[in-house]
Amino acid sequence: MISPADREKALIWLKNRRETVNPAFFPLLFDSRRYLVLKGGGGSGKSVFAGRLVLERVTSEKGHRWLVTRKVARTLRESCFAQLRSQAAALFPGRVKSVGESEMKIRFDNGGEILFAGLDDVEKLKSIFDVTGVWVEEATEISEADFNQLDIRLRTDFPYPLQMILTFNPTCSTHWLKRRFFDAPDPRAAVSETTYRDNRFLSREAVETLESFKNTDEYYYTVYCLGQWGTTGKTVFNGPALRERLDELTRKEKTDPPPRGFFECGNDKTRIDAFSFVGEAGGPVTLFFRPEAGKRYYIGADTAGEGSDWFCAQVLDEGGRQAATLRTRNDEETFTRQLYCLGRTYNSALIALEVNFSTYPVRLLESLGYREQYVREVADTFEHRIRRSFGFRTDSTTRPLILSTLIAGLRENVSLLNDPVTIGEALTFVRNEKLRPEAEKGAHDDTVMALAIAFFLLPGKGKARKRPADKSRWTKRMREDWAGADAEGRRMLEEKWSGFPRGG
Ligand SMILES: Nc1ncnc2c1ncn2[C@@H]1O[C@H](COP(=O)(O)OP(=O)(O)OP(=O)(O)O)[C@@H](O)[C@H]1O
Ligand SMILES: [Mg+2]
Repeated sequence: MISPADREKALIWLKNRRETVNPAFFPLLFDSRRYLVLKGGGGSGKSVFAGRLVLERVTSEKGHRWLVTRKVARTLRESCFAQLRSQAAALFPGRVKSVGESEMKIRFDNGGEILFAGLDDVEKLKSIFDVTGVWVEEATEISEADFNQLDIRLRTDFPYPLQMILTFNPTCSTHWLKRRFFDAPDPRAAVSETTYRDNRFLSREAVETLESFKNTDEYYYTVYCLGQWGTTGKTVFNGPALRERLDELTRKEKTDPPPRGFFECGNDKTRIDAFSFVGEAGGPVTLFFRPEAGKRYYIGADTAGEGSDWFCAQVLDEGGRQAATLRTRNDEETFTRQLYCLGRTYNSALIALEVNFSTYPVRLLESLGYREQYVREVADTFEHRIRRSFGFRTDSTTRPLILSTLIAGLRENVSLLNDPVTIGEALTFVRNEKLRPEAEKGAHDDTVMALAIAFFLLPGKGKARKRPADKSRWTKRMREDWAGADAEGRRMLEEKWSGFPRGG
C-alpha cells in the first residue's frame, strides 16, 4: 500500500511532467524498449525531450553512464552538451555534482554520469566503456555501421533497461534509418513521428519560418515542416498533393488508426473453410473501409521477385478508393492465403495477381477455389490462337498502360489513397534518366505496382474481365497432350497453361 505522502509526491511528479513535456512524447517517459526512434520535422521538440529523458533516467536510477554522441565532436559541444547543462540546472537543481568542461562530462550526486563524444573522436570513444544508455543526436549523419558499433557497445550488466535514443530529421527517403525502423516494424523499437505542431512551446516566429517553406522550397517544406521523408527525385505523381494527403493521414493515424492484423485461416494447406480477422499492431493487413454489401471490389497484387522481397495487394472499391492493403515479406503461400481471405472479405473481389516471377500464387488461389481471377489473353505461338490465362503480366506494353491509368486517376483525386506506405512509395516513384517511371534507387515500388494493377481493373479504366466460367478449362486436346508427356514435358505444359483449371 502506497502511503499518502508518497502518493502526493507521485502526483506532483506526474503533474509537473504533464506541464513540461509535450504530450506527443509523454508516453515515451515510461517506454522501456531498447530503441527510441524520434523522427520529426524541425522544432518538434525531439532534442529537448531526448535530453529530458536522459536526465530523468540518470537522476532517478543509480549508476548510469549515458553516452551522448553525434557524428562530429565539435558540434556536440554547442548543441547537446550546452543543452543538457542548462536543462540539468533548470530541471534538477542541486543534483549536478560537477561539470568537466574540457572533457565534456556531467556528474550527478548519485554517481551517475553523462559523457559526450563525437564519433570522429575514435580515441575518446574507445576510453568510454560500460555505457548504460546512448543518445545519438542528428542520427541521419551516422552510418549504419556506426549505429551497429554503438549498439554492440550498449551491452553491459545493468539493473535498468539499456536504451538508445535516436533523434533526427527525415532527410532522405532512402536512408538506412527508414529501412531499419520504418519499412517493417521492429518490436524492440518505439517509433515517434512529430512535427512543429506537436511542440506547444515553439515560438510563433519559428512556426512561421517553417510554414513559409511551403512557398519557397519544396524539399525543406517536406522534411522540416511536414516531417516527411525527403526525396531527391521528382515523383511522376502530383507530389505536393500527395504530401498534403500523407500529412493528413499521419495525423489521423495518431488519433484514429485503421484496424491492422491478419486473417486466421487454419492450418490445412489445401483448403480454407473458415477464416477470421485478428487484430495485431503492425500486422500485414490494414482495413481502411469495411466491405459494403452488394458492392464490387478490385484487387491488384504484386509478388516478390527481382529486387524486392515484399508481396503487396491493394483493394479498391468501384470508385478507386483504397479500401484495404496487404503487405508482407512472408512466403508466397502465406501471402496467397491472406489474399484469398482478403478477396473473400471484400465480396469475392476480382483479383489480378502479377505472374511475372511465379504462377504459383495464381494456381494456389485457384486450387483453394477462388474463381474471381483476372484473365489475360495470350497469343499462342504454336497454334495461332488466343488462349486465356489467369493473372496479370507486367511487360513493355502493359506496364506503361497501367501506370498512365494510375497517374491520370490520382491526378484527379489523391484522397482515394488511405495508406501512408503507398503514398511514401508513390513519392519516390520517379522518372529515371531514360524517362521510364520507376522506384528511385533504394526505394520500393511494390505498393505502387499493385495499385496500378488494381486501378487497371476498375470499370471504365482498363479492360477488366473475369474468366468466363468454363472456357479456359483444359480442352480434350490439352488433356491428351498432358497424358502423353513425360515429367519434363508436363513441367513445360504446366508453365504454358498456367492458370487453366484442369477439371471439367
Ligand atoms: N518541453 C519543452 N519545454 C520548453 N520548451 C521546449 C520544450 N520542447 C521544445 N521546446 C522549445 O522548442 C524548441 C525546439 O525544440 P527542439 O530543439 O527540441 O526541437 P527539435 O525537434 O530537436 O528540432 P530540430 O529538428 O530542428 O533539431 C526549443 O528550442 C525550445 O525552445
Ligand atoms: Mg534537434
